[in-house]
Amino acid sequence: MIAKVPPPFLPRFLPTRLPRVCVAVVGTSAAAMVEKAESIVRDNPFIEFRLDYLTEPDKAFTKLKGFIDFHPEALLLATCRRALNGGKYRGSVASEVDILVKAAQIGFQLVDIELESARKMKPEDFERIRRQAALILSSHDYEGTSDLEDTFKKMRAFPADFYKVVSTANSLHDNVTMMKFLEAKSDQNSMIGLCMGEQGIISRILGVRAGSAFTFGAALPGEETGPGQITGRTLHSTYRIEQVDTATRVYGVAGDPVAQSLSPQMMNAAFRRESVNAVYLALHATSLADLMACVRDIPIHGLSVTLPYKEQIVQHLDNTEPVAARIGACNTVIRAQDGKLYGFNTDVAGVIRPLESRITLSGARILVLGAGGAARAAVFGLKERGAEVFVLNRTAAAGQKLARQAHAKSVTRQQLKKLKFDVIINATSSGMEGDKTPAPIAEAEMNAAYFFDMVYSPAETRLIQMARARGMQVIPGWEMLLHQGARQFEIWSGKPAPVEDMQRVVLHALQTAGA
Ligand code: ATR
Repeated sequence: MIAKVPPPFLPRFLPTRLPRVCVAVVGTSAAAMVEKAESIVRDNPFIEFRLDYLTEPDKAFTKLKGFIDFHPEALLLATCRRALNGGKYRGSVASEVDILVKAAQIGFQLVDIELESARKMKPEDFERIRRQAALILSSHDYEGTSDLEDTFKKMRAFPADFYKVVSTANSLHDNVTMMKFLEAKSDQNSMIGLCMGEQGIISRILGVRAGSAFTFGAALPGEETGPGQITGRTLHSTYRIEQVDTATRVYGVAGDPVAQSLSPQMMNAAFRRESVNAVYLALHATSLADLMACVRDIPIHGLSVTLPYKEQIVQHLDNTEPVAARIGACNTVIRAQDGKLYGFNTDVAGVIRPLESRITLSGARILVLGAGGAARAAVFGLKERGAEVFVLNRTAAAGQKLARQAHAKSVTRQQLKKLKFDVIINATSSGMEGDKTPAPIAEAEMNAAYFFDMVYSPAETRLIQMARARGMQVIPGWEMLLHQGARQFEIWSGKPAPVEDMQRVVLHALQTAGA
């Protein structure tokens, strides 16, 4: 009888320059994982197979080898993270070793081992893995970003091809800590580093600039293998991660919350269109002190400022344009060449530009509903353009105060039926998704040619429906979002904004959100 000879082991080598993004693939069966990998590999040939998600990892190898043989161009990482370390694998360290060795033998070029597993492993098992594939030694901290040095010291006791240090960001500044750590260590070692969590998202993009060999992305929304992970597609198409380098300027929208913001999609599209080497991030700042520390340390070239910091930020700036100073709020910050921070209010352009493209503002009669930050931008901006401005607010005293400050007129609900306007602007939050409060104006009181709603989500607000029923022309809230962003782009880049491209992105995002 002739003994079966196993095929010779043919190692597949690592490319000299790794792709920037490794997309993690999960699934309970090998078939599901392979199907997912097939759908990704053309756009993103660097894939992590999370073998710990499989119900029976031992039985997956034939199917996985089929995929590997069919895709010689793919760069593949096998991970079988144990439940103790945040993964799903419930077997022993010895069986984790067996799985990873088998993975390497069928062609995975990289394997991941958690520091904890390495410590529990027999030295000969560790060596066995190292002989078969490039090794990523990893450490995950699900609580915070501390003791990075200490962790790294423990990791360095094991020889590895890459050291992956992952922490959790509890503040924006934790990203700075991670990036400084990466900068310090990546000269001598091949590092991978990022912060998990919503506040850590910026490290997933800027980490590669600070020395992380690559970063991780999810295959699809809902299939994240770590908190805060974004999809590989978003890393490529929105953030252009392949192009992020030390010369890339960093901008962002800062607020609390910011996860819902459409600005990253809109502004990154504008930077891409105009070939500006810049990236625009969502900065979830739970305090202004945290935000300002990041602005200084990252450093950040410009900010879009949103709730609740538009007013408070003014005192942290070196100078503010006069209209922003009068409004008392600033939604745009630029770091000038002298390093100083200057504040602008482009909400004014967000209100003015959609109106100017339709009517002559000088002498136009315009009713503004509300007396908050958005209303202040509208009232002061419209007064500057020579409009006759009327203010109505739920809390009368606040409306009267704004009218007095801006030399506008204050009106009451009782007067509305008898008054006619060219435009009514809703600058209150009435009609926002989930809002159940009574409308600030009744249909019978809407006597104007145009109705402009600053609320853009949902697209068809209750007030817009009322205005349509009354036969008014409607200006949707996304136009304000678009034009305030366009003006920001101009301030930051000195170039005209690619408004059409920005509009396409905003409308697509709104349609997808509403779908
Ligand atoms: P923003 O910066 O977005 O303008 P803000 O400063 O909190 O937000 O101001 C919200 C404005 O919307 C206020 O004028 C508020 O009226 P009050 O002064 O009476 O609070 C107004 N507002 C919010 N919800 C409203 C509603 N359901 N009906 C009428 N006015 C509303």
